[in-house]
Amino acid sequence: MEPLFVYYSSTSLNTHRFVSKLDMPAKRIPISMKEEPPLIEQPYILICPTYADDDGSKAVPKQVIKFLNDPANRSLMVGVISSGNRNFGELFAYAGDVIARKCNVPVLYRFELSGTPSDVSKIRAGVNKLWRPLTQKIQKTQQPLHVKVSA
Ligand SMILES: Cc1cc2nc3c(=O)[nH]c(=O)nc-3n(C[C@H](O)[C@H](O)[C@H](O)COP(=O)(O)O)c2cc1C
Repeated sequence: MEPLFVYYSSTSLNTHRFVSKLDMPAKRIPISMKEEPPLIEQPYILICPTYADDDGSKAVPKQVIKFLNDPANRSLMVGVISSGNRNFGELFAYAGDVIARKCNVPVLYRFELSGTPSDVSKIRAGVNKLWRPLTQKIQKTQQPLHVKVSA
């Protein structure tokens, strides 16, 4: 199964520009809360920018929370890549920490704004190397769902 990215990007489009540079399969979570988030049917990596208040609350955009509230979407996430702006100091790319803690997935990478060419090549190389082990981990977790019940 091919790698898939699911990402959110606001109207400032930094994350969208980053994902375009990755040039790999990707689905975008809509900005409008009136639109339904995509329903994902294969393992994927979430890419999420940070929008925290000064106290660190609200780091994860509400559109991403809505997407992750779907149990199927949540269970297929193999890891999170988060982004932000280093001007925010300790809260740089903090959304990834929140998602990792709540959803029990690893933070795979953090990048700033729309990323550098080095970010792009590191993620492309890392994903190609890690995709199979990451998805195997998920398939193991989900195995009980596929166990046949004998009569
Ligand atoms: C209101 C607001 C709050 C933000 N809070 C944080 C933050 O807490 N930590 C951080 O690293 N970046 C923060 N950022 C920076 C964004 O995460 C960064 O600009 C990101 O690239 C936006 O992605 P997007 O253009 O795809 O939406 C904030 C930006 C805004 C506008």
